[in-house]
Amino acid sequence: MTSSTKYIQYRNIFLSFGSHSKESLEYAQNFSVEDSDVFAVTYPKSGTIWMQEILPLVLNGGDLTPIQTIPNWDRVPWLEEKRLAMVVDQLASPRALVTHFPYRLMPPSFHTSKAKVIYVMRNPKDVIVSSYFFHQMAEFLEDPGTFDEFMDKFLEGRVLFGKWTDHVKGWRDTELGDRIMYITYEEMAKDLPAAVRRFSDFLGRNLSEEVIQKIAEHCSFKTMKTNKMSNFSLVPKEYMNPDKSPFLRKGVAGDWENHFSSEQLARFTSAIRKEMESASFSLPWSM
Ligand code: A3P
Repeated sequence: MTSSTKYIQYRNIFLSFGSHSKESLEYAQNFSVEDSDVFAVTYPKSGTIWMQEILPLVLNGGDLTPIQTIPNWDRVPWLEEKRLAMVVDQLASPRALVTHFPYRLMPPSFHTSKAKVIYVMRNPKDVIVSSYFFHQMAEFLEDPGTFDEFMDKFLEGRVLFGKWTDHVKGWRDTELGDRIMYITYEEMAKDLPAAVRRFSDFLGRNLSEEVIQKIAEHCSFKTMKTNKMSNFSLVPKEYMNPDKSPFLRKGVAGDWENHFSSEQLARFTSAIRKEMESASFSLPWSM
């Protein structure tokens, strides 16, 4: 695997100089996970920011203060990113974190803890499209080239956090038992109140129907787009340029149909199918 000026290699995956460093990765490995911690785990572009909005509300019973006053990256920080060390002491309890780490890179204290995990998986066809536009707007990522070129990189895992298929397979075959729940981006998009209800039950929150509806309303794509604590408008344009593509871009399932040629669809599905032959589960979308 050859790296570039924007990426660093870490235990066989690419990470970004902009967000990750030797120190942040060491910090993550030595991080002391608490039993009450909750992790939302995603392959990039699968609904991470969405979970950074939903989790604090589910955990605090619907109090909007954190989502209206704290930027998403400090409110529910990434385990692997530089910011965590700066904000860890200010995190509300119980702590909510996100990570894109493959399962094999989770720190030792995570495995011995009782911390819970919500794994969000998204149709890889929409993941690659979302990622393609994100690579155009994020200065700290490599220029994606054409969609065709980007597809090669994506399928070979020459993108941040490696192959999509390795990520989903790794997080499916764990020893976590009932510490982990699985949900798809598509389920969340189809019925957000139902998803919030599932999170509430999984995290032992027992939220009322009124609070569930309130959370779903405040975590809708439309509302999040106007929340400056979540829409990345606080980030300088030199770092993330919304004129090229907004971070909260379309927020739908199935946008891939507007971007794949029939040749690309055949190539993509055949590669994903092949990789999934060794999986212990079937994907919930036709591939
Ligand atoms: P699109 O580029 O397809 O619009 P991540 O946070 O993991 O980087 O994922 C970003 C993707 O999640 C983007 O997808 C973004 O629009 C979508 N997203 C974020 N919040 C959402 C919401 N409330 N409803 C639907 N999609 C959302």
